[in-house]
Amino acid sequence: MQTLTNARACLIFGTDTGNTEEVGDKICAELAQLGCAAEMMNITDVSVEEFEQFDFLIFGIPTWDFGGIQGDWEDFEEQIASAQLQGKTVALYGLGDQLGYGYYFVDAMGWLYEHVIKTGAQIIGSWSTEGYFYDESRAVNQSRTHFCGLAIDDDQQFELTDARIKNWVEQIANEYQQLHAA
Ligand SMILES: Cc1cc2nc3c(=O)[nH]c(=O)nc-3n(C[C@H](O)[C@H](O)[C@H](O)COP(=O)(O)O)c2cc1C
Repeated sequence: MQTLTNARACLIFGTDTGNTEEVGDKICAELAQLGCAAEMMNITDVSVEEFEQFDFLIFGIPTWDFGGIQGDWEDFEEQIASAQLQGKTVALYGLGDQLGYGYYFVDAMGWLYEHVIKTGAQIIGSWSTEGYFYDESRAVNQSRTHFCGLAIDDDQQFELTDARIKNWVEQIANEYQQLHAA
């Protein structure tokens, strides 16, 4: 049986000013507490072929310039569109600023979700929109109850970041175990 502790896990992030990497470090530290050793890589240093080596992939992306996709992820668009990730489990996290860019909050995470869902991967880690104050987001479901992954706002709600990470990592660990329990 595959478990979180023997899963080959990798966190892949893109960043312009370092926040998404910093959050990635914290996610990996929490995963380590649960016995899961995740490698961490910048999207600039990865190929789709490398995805194949992992069972569990965590993708991190910030939104820039009114709903824009972080540049290194955008450069990766063709590769992710052609990736075959059947059998892989993927969780997403996104960084944004809900007051500064309230009509585009964590939009890039929604963009990434739209691509990943087409690869055949199983996506886990949807996250409640409760406690966020934004107008529009590409990363929410139709009823606006959930983001497609963990939304982190280090600009406006920095004080909530660590607890959100801890709770989300526990959530994805449970979801991963349940998915692979059979
Ligand atoms: C010029 C500028 C544009 C931004 N545009 C958006 C946006 O459209 N939507 C959003 O949610 N956040 C937006 N942000 C907030 C960033 O996503 C946020 O600061 C994030 O933590 C940056 O992550 P990084 O350091 O990993 O690049 C913007 C920030 C700046 C300075």
